Amino acid sequence: MLASGRGSNLQAIMDAIGEGRLNGRVVLVISDNPHARALERARIAKVPTRLMLPSGYQSKADYEKALAQCCQEYKAQVVALAGFMRILGPTFLGHFPQRVVNIHPSLLPAFPGLHAQEQALRHGVRFSGCTVHFVDEGVDSGPIILQAVVPVLADDDEETLSERILVQEHRIYPRALQLIAEGRMLVEGRRVYFTEMERSERGSET
Ligand code: GAR
Repeated sequence: MLASGRGSNLQAIMDAIGEGRLNGRVVLVISDNPHARALERARIAKVPTRLMLPSGYQSKADYEKALAQCCQEYKAQVVALAGFMRILGPTFLGHFPQRVVNIHPSLLPAFPGLHAQEQALRHGVRFSGCTVHFVDEGVDSGPIILQAVVPVLADDDEETLSERILVQEHRIYPRALQLIAEGRMLVEGRRVYFTEMERSERGSET
């Protein structure tokens, strides 16, 4: 997993594994921030950690190559981004086709990028939420795996809305990873299907 900050999604994933809701193992946590609480959470859970700072590399491509090598060294099957505040480019993504996933605190494609919750409040939407999606080379633009809807209340500020969305993030991220672990996911263009049956049903709707 790659995380830059607090690591509550990392924690939710480790908890889901501990409680048997997710079949898998966090093999490594990489951070680009020495102060990331995610690193501390990983250490407590006895998960290996690596601090990898972009400043130690000549170019973005070199940094991404090192990140990919590290993930491969630990035999990562899926790379889950959890509050990893960097855009990954082709050098990294090429190593893990359709195996890099991210969580974003809005109903994509609305409000990609930074401060998604503040963007939602400013726009005046009645509902926001969160999205687990595959990562492509755009900003929060890859195929959508799962979403959860969260109402925006009249007296919400960025903090209260973020908190309510976070509860849903912690619920859907482990579920999305479990679907991947079960090998039930099929990606066709932008569409993600969970079973062969769903693919034929959705296909006939369009
Ligand atoms: C989460 O809300 C996540 O959705 C968001 O950062 C937070 C990380 O929290 N990610 C993005 O905004 C990515 N564009 P966490 O470190 O406690 O998991």
